Amino acid sequence: MDDNEVAGQIIGGNSSKILVRGKFGKRLELGDLLIADENNGNKILLQVKNLEYRSQIPQERRELISGLQLEHEDESTTFIEPELRNYIIAEAKPLLYIHNNSKNAKAPKSLPPFFKKVRRVKEEDLKFLSKPKHPLYLGEVRSGSQKLNLPVYIDYKHAIPHHILIPATTGRGKSNLVKVMLWNLVDENVGILVLDPHDEYYGRGNTKGLKDHPRHEEVLYYSPNPPRGGLELKINKKYLKPKHFQGTVSFTDAQWQAMHKFYKEFKDEWIIKIEEMERIGEEIHGVKKPTIAATNRKLNHVLSHEDVFVENGRNVIEDIVNNLEKGKIVIIDTSQMSEEAGILVGSAIIENIFRRYQRYKAEGELNKKPVIGIVVEEAPRILGKDVLKDGQNIYATIAREGRKFNIGLIAITQLVTPIPKSILANMNTKIILGNEMPSERSEIIGSSPQDLSDDDRAIASLDKGEAIVSSIFTKFAVPIYIPLFEDYIEKDEKSDDQEYDIDPL
Ligand SMILES: Nc1ncnc2c1ncn2[C@@H]1O[C@H](COP(=O)(O)OP(=O)(O)OP(=O)(O)O)[C@@H](O)[C@H]1O
Ligand SMILES: [Mg+2]
Repeated sequence: MDDNEVAGQIIGGNSSKILVRGKFGKRLELGDLLIADENNGNKILLQVKNLEYRSQIPQERRELISGLQLEHEDESTTFIEPELRNYIIAEAKPLLYIHNNSKNAKAPKSLPPFFKKVRRVKEEDLKFLSKPKHPLYLGEVRSGSQKLNLPVYIDYKHAIPHHILIPATTGRGKSNLVKVMLWNLVDENVGILVLDPHDEYYGRGNTKGLKDHPRHEEVLYYSPNPPRGGLELKINKKYLKPKHFQGTVSFTDAQWQAMHKFYKEFKDEWIIKIEEMERIGEEIHGVKKPTIAATNRKLNHVLSHEDVFVENGRNVIEDIVNNLEKGKIVIIDTSQMSEEAGILVGSAIIENIFRRYQRYKAEGELNKKPVIGIVVEEAPRILGKDVLKDGQNIYATIAREGRKFNIGLIAITQLVTPIPKSILANMNTKIILGNEMPSERSEIIGSSPQDLSDDDRAIASLDKGEAIVSSIFTKFAVPIYIPLFEDYIEKDEKSDDQEYDIDPL
């Protein structure tokens, strides 16, 4: 190793904590990735987890020197060879044992050579992070706060059905990350449903979004008042079923029974019939008048958007599901609806696609169909313990069983503590952005695929766009930097131009 490259030297420790003396003038940072080279060309990847001062000079003596400098402004009393006597010790955790060719890596089982000098990681050390067959781009490798030029991908065909959780405090870049992810999925054969309560993914008007993709015909946008290029979100009430209301407002058992009875009796006229019976004040099949009235009131509350829930017209849910099945990205703008109505629309679509994929599986056709991902913002609205105590909704069904049918959630949340542990543990990829709340961090760490027990402070100090990817599909918890969407797509456009500059022949 070039002397310039040396960042420190291993001076002790154990298999979970290697002590590295930092070289004077080389500023080591929390999260820095370091490499200890073995003589046979193999390498050990280490990550700095803690930093502390050490000094050869006794504490009392240091205090005295400080006293002279502070009180007598006597800067001449100083240390002899300070770079030898005062230094920083980094505690570094061995993350991986990387083989010679940098293509293979596994969990480290031995210690790096004692007294070995270490250096900072370089792109070529991490060649094993290769591009998978079905790439889902997440960002670039990050060492501390330094960005490397090495893209990080996971294989979406596996990762999406195993669910992706994106937890972080507000404003840390969750939506930005999902925009970057989706941008690259436009070209892939994967169906993505985006339930967008803030109308931020398509990019209406002058804001950038998925509409700006060169292949924007692969992106469909449904909205109650669509711009040019968008589609009208009009849901014919006929195509709604009682179970779609699971997770919207809380119905009593008697009300559920009433809804099911009406559905059984009147099929797709059930909502209209409940309205009618309430109007004429009649009982039916032993469903009491007050029950009909209360059920009608609650249904009306959820369906109060007259421009969305209509009494006739085509089955838009069916259109949406057809497009998902063709591997398109479908964005549903629910920003102008109540939360309940947004959940209802999502439920109806998801229930439909789930049913279809169950059938494909039974028929042995599932492998021919694209994987489906469902982006949900503010996940506790649908996966919170308090919501699920009223009964399982389709979102929880997907979280628990979707994997068998190649359907997964991409769940975004500020809080993970309201989500049941069993669901959190089922989300096998977690893209963790900054989080100030200790209780949230501890829940995230406790449910992560890799051991992040000493990353608590690192997670607390993640800046906008910085994240840690903990996944059963990555060999270690990979620190990444996520580009800002607007910059990223500009670059993407430029690199496209460059490709055209070269004569294709
Ligand atoms: N990777 C990034 N690099 C630089 N700036 C970023 C990055 N990601 C996000 N930002 C900035 O932070 C702002 C907030 O990001 P974003 O909307 O993605 O956060 P969020 O986590 O989704 O917040 P909320 O919880 O409120 O939805 C963005 O408008 C952008 O300016
Ligand atoms: Mg957001």
